[in-house]
Amino acid sequence: MLEAKGESAIHSQESSPGESGGKVPWGLVATGLLGGTLVALYAVATPFVTPALRKLCLPFVPATPAQVRNVLRAVQRGGGTLVDIGSGDGRIVIAAAKQGFCAVGIELNPWLVWYSRYRAWREGVHHKTTFYRSDLWKVNFSQYTNVVIFGVPQMMAQLEDKLRAELSSGARVVACRFPFPRQQPDATAGEGIDMVWVYDSVSFIAPRADTNPVHPVES
Ligand SMILES: C[S@@+](CC[C@H](N)C(=O)[O-])C[C@H]1O[C@@H](n2cnc3c(N)ncnc32)[C@H](O)[C@@H]1O
Repeated sequence: MLEAKGESAIHSQESSPGESGGKVPWGLVATGLLGGTLVALYAVATPFVTPALRKLCLPFVPATPAQVRNVLRAVQRGGGTLVDIGSGDGRIVIAAAKQGFCAVGIELNPWLVWYSRYRAWREGVHHKTTFYRSDLWKVNFSQYTNVVIFGVPQMMAQLEDKLRAELSSGARVVACRFPFPRQQPDATAGEGIDMVWVYDSVSFIAPRADTNPVHPVES
């Protein structure tokens, strides 16, 4: 009798499927999912938000199609090299590679760097493009024949000094939307927010007199 009682006591403690022991802990799953989503959101959003917290805030604003066309009209032909400083999603680099340039993107945001590499691969120009995850202020631009920048007004004077110290002779600088403050451009292309200013290194290194005329780039 004692044995039988004990057995039934043991059986009564075992749980069948669907009873409390086999239940899915939905609370824990929901907490885990929410936590994971928040961590993922944080990881994706941080590189987009941190430029706004830097001393010189340069956010991701992609070039318009007209702006890209103006850049391509402005750069030097002949299959040289091109660098886009702060290359965003890689649209200028990829468009230049399609025109035969060996094109390089310098970009701080790792997600945009990976996305640019994917886009270049998808569009069949990965062998003509390179994307570096780098801080533009730590890169030397002396090796490029075309330097493209879509910056913000607050950074242009500092970048002007940097490029003046680094550019090799024969290089060309194309500034999108915002010109260099102390530099007279050699030409311009486009208008309004799509306008680009073109500076050849000769006049960039030794600023021209203000009286020199600025010509629109010929299409
Ligand atoms: C105005 S967007 C231009 C994007 C691209 N050039 C275009 O025209 O479509 C500027 C880019 O510079 C990047 N950036 C900001 N600070 C940077 C830094 N210190 N070094 C490199 N890239 C930076 C931003 O993440 C952003 O993608």
